[in-house]
Amino acid sequence: MSPGPSSEEPNHAGDSPQPSEPLFSARATTLFRVALGAAVLLVTGTGFMASAYFHSSSWDGIGFAPAQPVPFSHKLHAGELRMDCRNCHATVETSAFAGMPSTETCLSCHSQLLTSAPTLQPVMASDAHHVPLQWIRVTRLPDHVYFDHSIHVNKGVGCTSCHGEVGEMAVIAQRDPLTMRWCLDCHRNPGPRLRPSSEIFAAISPVARPHDPREELMRLDHIHLMNLTDCSTCHH
Ligand code: HEC
Ligand code: HEC
Ligand code: HEC
Ligand code: HEC
Ligand code: HEC
Repeated sequence: MSPGPSSEEPNHAGDSPQPSEPLFSARATTLFRVALGAAVLLVTGTGFMASAYFHSSSWDGIGFAPAQPVPFSHKLHAGELRMDCRNCHATVETSAFAGMPSTETCLSCHSQLLTSAPTLQPVMASDAHHVPLQWIRVTRLPDHVYFDHSIHVNKGVGCTSCHGEVGEMAVIAQRDPLTMRWCLDCHRNPGPRLRPSSEIFAAISPVARPHDPREELMRLDHIHLMNLTDCSTCHH
């Protein structure tokens, strides 16, 4: 073994490092470069495979249900407790975006209720440190598509027509493919899928009533079918 500092030898504990010796030996630097290169390849490779998967025709997102910072249950809050969607998705009637609840919204009940439940500790921490909870998006369209909640909700399309039986979901999962074909299936003939305004926010789809052509015609009167399949309606 060659004694003394060699540029090929890493520093061992107990060795007194020479002032001129580089911080990392040449071999360590090479190993580091190889590891870094492998990491970069792994990351770009995974990204490439992921993008190939997302863009493949088999990808439609059905069933997508990412883990959330708090195991929040719509089955409990919207289904059993019958809380209105607008308590937490406050802008769904007035803007393109439904909106997400703030920590204060949760604390309107949970500052008193289940305050020490382990599942609610992220909510408490969010409040204590003034850091909003980072809910993970489930439903997401590509940037080149324009979507607006308020127009759908105001023209008689219920939440469950697009999001599924939310009142039965302990964990929200995407039910429909959200493809262009899916949008167009309704835009070509929305009449049968519309409901009375009293049923828009139902957590479970209302039971289909006997066909009422008068009501349908009245509703269709307010729908501008002409534009609904124009490319520019959804692609600005
Ligand atoms: C209107 C009151 C109310 C609001 C607002 C509310 N909750 Fe709840 N939450 C409840 C009730 C009631 C329970 C069930 C209590 C029980 O099991 O006895 C509950 C249970 C929970 C549980 C289960 C706790 C456990 O482990 O047993 C979690 C997690 C939770 N809520 C999270 C949230 C979050 C996150 C928000 C805000 C987005 C929120 N809640 C808003 C009333 C509310
Ligand atoms: C007490 C608050 C609360 C109420 C009431 C509530 N939600 Fe939510 N909602 C949340 C929270 C928190 C999330 C994010 C975590 C998750 O996805 O479960 C969410 C997420 C969602 C999502 C997924 C959004 C995405 O990322 O794509 C949909 C869809 C949804 N809610 C629909 C509804 C509908 C429909 C109702 C009424 C029937 C409703 N919610 C009632 C709190 C609430
Ligand atoms: C016509 C179909 C449709 C209806 C009706 C609908 N949604 Fe959505 N929702 C979507 C789509 C599509 C997205 C994804 C939007 C995007 O990525 O730009 C979405 C996203 C969301 C989100 C995530 C935040 C956001 O705004 O992007 C929430 C929360 C939500 N919807 C709740 C609701 C609630 C509550 C109702 C009923 C009051 C409702 N939605 C009615 C299709 C619909
Ligand atoms: C269940 C039926 C239904 C589904 C599904 C649906 N829509 Fe709609 N959409 C409607 C109705 C009804 C209107 C209101 C038409 C009117 O009278 O202006 C509308 C209106 C719109 C408008 C506004 C048109 C205007 O005149 O300004 C846009 C944009 C839109 N939808 C995009 C989408 C996109 C994107 C999707 C798919 C992610 C989608 N919609 C899915 C029923 C639906
Ligand atoms: C009702 C809404 C709606 C209308 C109308 C609409 N599209 Fe789309 N379009 C979408 C949605 C949602 C997507 C994204 C999901 C998908 O790729 O299926 C999309 C995606 C696309 C894409 C990208 C496909 C891809 O593989 O990435 C193209 C191109 C496109 N639309 C062209 C058109 C043309 C051309 C028209 C008119 C003939 C049109 N769209 C009308 C909703 C619409």
